[in-house]
Amino acid sequence: MYVDNKICLGEVEGRQLYIPAKMANRHGLITGATGTGKTTTLKTMAESFSEAGVPVFFSDIKGDLSGVSKEYPVTFWDIYGKEGIAARTTISEMGPILLAKLMDLNDTQADILTVVFKIADDQGLLLVDTKDLKAMLTYVGENNAVLSAEYGNIAKASVNTILRNVVALEAKGADEFFAEPALNIADWFQRDLNGKGMINILECQELVNDTTMYGTFLLWMLSELFETLPEVGDMDRPRIVFFFDEAHLIFKDAGKALLQKIEQVVKLIRSKGVGVYFISQSPKDIPDIILSQLGNKIQHGLRAYTPNDEKVVKAAADSFRVNPKLNSYEEILNLGIGEVLISTLGEDGIPNIVEKTKIYPPKTMDVKITSEEKQQKILSNDLYLRYQNMFDRDSAYEFFQRMKQQAVEEKNSLEGQKIEDKEKIKLEKTEMKEQEKLAKAAQKQTEKEAKVVKSNIKKVASSAAGTVGRELGKSMGKAVGGKFGKTLGGNVGAQLFRSILGTFIK
Ligand SMILES: Nc1ncnc2c1ncn2[C@@H]1O[C@H](COP(=O)(O)OP(=O)(O)OP(=O)(O)O)[C@@H](O)[C@H]1O
Ligand SMILES: [Mg+2]
Repeated sequence: MYVDNKICLGEVEGRQLYIPAKMANRHGLITGATGTGKTTTLKTMAESFSEAGVPVFFSDIKGDLSGVSKEYPVTFWDIYGKEGIAARTTISEMGPILLAKLMDLNDTQADILTVVFKIADDQGLLLVDTKDLKAMLTYVGENNAVLSAEYGNIAKASVNTILRNVVALEAKGADEFFAEPALNIADWFQRDLNGKGMINILECQELVNDTTMYGTFLLWMLSELFETLPEVGDMDRPRIVFFFDEAHLIFKDAGKALLQKIEQVVKLIRSKGVGVYFISQSPKDIPDIILSQLGNKIQHGLRAYTPNDEKVVKAAADSFRVNPKLNSYEEILNLGIGEVLISTLGEDGIPNIVEKTKIYPPKTMDVKITSEEKQQKILSNDLYLRYQNMFDRDSAYEFFQRMKQQAVEEKNSLEGQKIEDKEKIKLEKTEMKEQEKLAKAAQKQTEKEAKVVKSNIKKVASSAAGTVGRELGKSMGKAVGGKFGKTLGGNVGAQLFRSILGTFIK
């Protein structure tokens, strides 16, 4: 119930117990054993904020809260796009820390994932879907030696482990919600014509089966709010209130880096006008650093079967500002369904003393809608068409595909060139051989002709020498002794000249 800037939750001795609207961004905690009425309290609060014109976000774990849409403006969201408008995000918006939680990576692997994001960023590559992340990891794995020199050691084995985890994530349906169009959180900030704040319900019956996915997704939404919204300081009421039902799932297996991030977000987000309310069975489910940030506390009944349970109840009782009229410890053990111990912040920000009350039941306590009515509400929502159709824009995967294609084409053209070159060489060789052959033949011919010329010359020379020698010998022989002398002189003279000439003509 909302009256005079008060989120009214119950009453005691005729006095209303409430959260002042301007203190609703100081966060809160709703705890209690199973079945004690926590989710019902959440519903009462969500209705009250809506009446105050404050949009709200909560997750419907059991699927029994949709009846609120009979009386209040509601947008149903579903990361699988079945029971509500598709609420998707991108890999880069999820970021390495949350993704590491989602994939249950150890610290070393988480660090490497952060480096992979940095490399993608440095190279101007978009990480939208799981295909992009796989392509980027493959690239980093293949080039780890070169990249390690610049970014520090990137173990190939770790990259491969992350890659396997991405594949496992896809098998769990991650390729459905790491896609575009990504959820624009501004779409949560709506009011209907009567000024009621939009109640955004995340349908979680399927999602909550994968507790890690559930916790991570809600954290992403919170960090998205944190990153998107501007600082506004103190306002007369929050801009939006965010409820985390089954909040223990958020902190389950959360590493140090993630816890620090949650603490930082919770601490700083209130000055952006966001109130965050954690709902869980035991205050012990919430880390102390977060607990200390929660100003408005609602404690449903707890049971103490074991010494450990007793400790939890004692801690819960001690966390309240003492009311001398109440024994908090005893009261917590004996609260009935819908009954609570409550301590909210006063107008001045100081916690009120603890009181016992019964939470007002929600106006739509027993209102139900059929699944047909619900589908009708989803389809007639203006946002439905905007988020309905997925698109796949040019991002890291497409870039690496192009690179591969280019490399294949270059290789092919290089090989083509090689074949061409080989053929050219072969052709040149045959031509050379041919020419050699021709040259040899020509040489032979020349030699042959030269021989003929030589022998002709010889012949001519020999007969010429014979004639000259003979004549010379004859005259010399004649002088020596008659006819004999003449013949002998002629022959000797001829031989002599031939041999002299022969040394010149060979
Ligand atoms: N304020 C209330 N007034 C009347 N009935 C209530 C109130 N709160 C809870 N109930 C009844 O108790 C039932 C269980 O409540 P609810 O589902 O809110 O408990 P819970 O603590 O969220 O349980 P769980 O831990 O299983 O999620 C409801 O179905 C409702 O009938
Ligand atoms: Mg519940």
